[in-house]
Amino acid sequence: MTTLNHQFRLARRPVGLPQRSDFDYAATPLQAPAEGKVQVQVAYVSIDPAMRGWVSDSEDLYDVPMAIGDVMRAVAVGRVTASAHPRFAVGDSVAGILGVEEYTIVPGDNLRKIDPALAPLPAFLNALGMPGITAYFGLLEAGQPQAGETVVVSGAAGAVGSLVGQIAKIKGARVIGIAGGADKCRMLTEELGFDAAIDYKREDVAAALRQHAPKGVDVFFDNVGGAVLDAVLLRLAVGARIVICGAISQYNNVGAMTGPANYLQLVVKRATMRGILVRDFAPRALEAATVMGGWLASGQLKAREDVVVGLEHFPETFQRLFDGSHNGKLMLQVAP
Ligand SMILES: NC(=O)c1ccc[n+]([C@@H]2O[C@H](COP(=O)([O-])OP(=O)(O)OC[C@H]3O[C@@H](n4cnc5c(N)ncnc54)[C@H](OP(=O)(O)O)[C@@H]3O)[C@@H](O)[C@H]2O)c1
Repeated sequence: MTTLNHQFRLARRPVGLPQRSDFDYAATPLQAPAEGKVQVQVAYVSIDPAMRGWVSDSEDLYDVPMAIGDVMRAVAVGRVTASAHPRFAVGDSVAGILGVEEYTIVPGDNLRKIDPALAPLPAFLNALGMPGITAYFGLLEAGQPQAGETVVVSGAAGAVGSLVGQIAKIKGARVIGIAGGADKCRMLTEELGFDAAIDYKREDVAAALRQHAPKGVDVFFDNVGGAVLDAVLLRLAVGARIVICGAISQYNNVGAMTGPANYLQLVVKRATMRGILVRDFAPRALEAATVMGGWLASGQLKAREDVVVGLEHFPETFQRLFDGSHNGKLMLQVAP
């Protein structure tokens, strides 16, 4: 009997917020892997802001855009169900760029084995995976926070931001998170140990920063861009380091992106602004995962996941990235 592989394919490029009609829900017969390839049953699919870039046709992106008709690309974890690659056997747990589908066939060279005895599979899409590597190296190598300095992080309740703030605390910094809504702000200070939180949906960010960072901001780790970036630029300390990780407030813009108007503060404060890309740190992924795994085990670090069950919910789950309704690393459970 033929096994059918259900999958989401890109039907058209979204304009603004992605819609269900931008994707086709298809079923194709499952194939055996060709030489060098591995068939993976997808267990958890990471729902990432980067997906918004993959479905657009902009030329200034850091990844090759998807073509119309492609299976939706996704970072995911799963289990090997058939292998024609010497390094992988049926039953191995693996992570890599797979697809929003039940089964993916990929070159074995693009997969990495993960050890489910170390942590449950979702952790490898969170603190022990891409968000963890981004937060760890982005903050420590580009931000270089020193004990006693003031670190501000935007998108602070998100996957990357929540880890950045906690790592900065572990390194002895004073940490201020910027997030949307009272519940998320309460979580930052009461559960994750941030020193202060600013609700950008309700508060004047510039005024709140004057109150919470009276000596200025030494490190700003920015996930959202736009008005929040501009507000923090007005509050820099001399020698500040700004880490540009992303600009989620701009990803669904139909027109041009809003760039920082206050960039001349970089001159006034002799500050640096540096972009980071997680793939540059990929060769050192194990280093981050080892340290972060230790912090998770000791309880110094907390990582939360927001798991939606069912492949068929992909389009609505993708939308949730942009409405603030998720709390923790957003992912889709496709198989147990
Ligand atoms: N450079 C790299 O290599 C790299 C790697 C991974 C991620 N990133 C970037 O890092 C950022 C965070 O990623 P993530 O995985 O942590 O995402 P996430 O867990 O989905 O968190 C993103 C948060 O952004 C906030 N947000 C959404 N729309 C917003 C808007 N219009 N204005 C302000 N905030 C908004 C939401 O929180 P609120 O409810 O608080 O608004 C949301 O929780 C993204 O920009 C992503 O592209 C970059």
